[in-house]
Amino acid sequence: MNLPLPSPDAQAHSQRLLECIRREIVAHGGWIPFARYMELALYAPGLGYYTAGARKFGAAGDFITAPGMSALFGQALARQVAQVMAASAPVILEVGAGSGRLAADLLLELERRACLPEQYLILDLSADLRQRQQQTLAAEVPHLLPRLRWLDALPESFAGVVVGNELLDAMPAEIVAWRENGIFERGVELDAAGSFVWGERPATGAVLAAAQQIGEQCQLPPGFESEISLAARAWAAEWGGRLSAGALLLIDYGFPRREFYHQQRARGTLMCHYRHHAHPDPFYLPGLQDLTVHVDFTAIIAAAHGAGLELLGYTSQGQFLLNCGILDLLGELPNDSVDYIRAAGAVNKLLMPHEMGELFKVIAIGRGIDEALCGFASGDQSRRL
Ligand SMILES: C[S@@+](CC[C@H](N)C(=O)[O-])C[C@H]1O[C@@H](n2cnc3c(N)ncnc32)[C@H](O)[C@@H]1O
Repeated sequence: MNLPLPSPDAQAHSQRLLECIRREIVAHGGWIPFARYMELALYAPGLGYYTAGARKFGAAGDFITAPGMSALFGQALARQVAQVMAASAPVILEVGAGSGRLAADLLLELERRACLPEQYLILDLSADLRQRQQQTLAAEVPHLLPRLRWLDALPESFAGVVVGNELLDAMPAEIVAWRENGIFERGVELDAAGSFVWGERPATGAVLAAAQQIGEQCQLPPGFESEISLAARAWAAEWGGRLSAGALLLIDYGFPRREFYHQQRARGTLMCHYRHHAHPDPFYLPGLQDLTVHVDFTAIIAAAHGAGLELLGYTSQGQFLLNCGILDLLGELPNDSVDYIRAAGAVNKLLMPHEMGELFKVIAIGRGIDEALCGFASGDQSRRL
């Protein structure tokens, strides 16, 4: 691969993580499931891509997410957040808040609308990102800091709005291969030189059960390989026992099940991001690149349903942002400046079907919300799940 070379420090960091994963493979008899590899590569304490100091977001990092493109994303989302808060409780919990950009934009817009939350809670697995979030918010909304609080775990009980942008795609996923002679789980082994290589074991337990169900539902042919994120399902189900009233608003790239496990994606959706290059090799420079999988939204809603939550809406990001009035917000900007052109360019990217508008979806799952949610007022695709 012809990718930019990391600095010697960064290479040494990657080497330390590599050693940590190697030790784990050896300790587990020469093989670990891919989900465990992904968990270590992203979240090994002090070493993983998210838990250590890699730049990650923005032009100098590896990828850009919607909040980094334009404040209009958070401003539009604020309209939906305000509605759910009014129908439940004035509290927001953002899970996986990245740089803190979305939190700042949401808070500023909610202040402008005179419906600030009493509390804005943030939970992130990454101590490094928690620090970055604190810096962003201290700079952007110093007067609102008393409302902000960082959590170390999901709250036992919660009423209000849970927001997660590009959260589910960053959760570890199992990789499964449906073969002539059975269903196999793909994992990571070491070759004679100690490098990571793929290896397979017959799937067992929850992975086998999920893979059998998907294989039958989607009539997968032998040779099909794809991901199943048990962690994302478990995370959605967790809320069944924790959310007393309100909604989870989750924005991510992915599909309903029959599109996720479609012949077009017979090799799955695993993708790696390194300095704005996307490639499919998860063993390249562990700790220096992001690993992500698309979301099977059917699995997320099934898990939430099983835990007693309701599906409140599902649509494309483009439709959701339009429903939330992003074009009106754009129209409020002075239209004779470079800032306007920049914002219009970002809105184009967020909305257009061939950019982020169609691949990204918004799903709302909740409890105790009787009214229709404004973000799904037109173009709700819930029946497709
Ligand atoms: C792809 S980044 C997205 C960041 C941000 N939401 C954005 O849109 O720019 C994924 C984020 O989710 C966090 N994360 C992943 N799994 C998590 C979990 N189970 N609980 C809390 N945070 C998590 C990561 O540390 C990281 O901040």
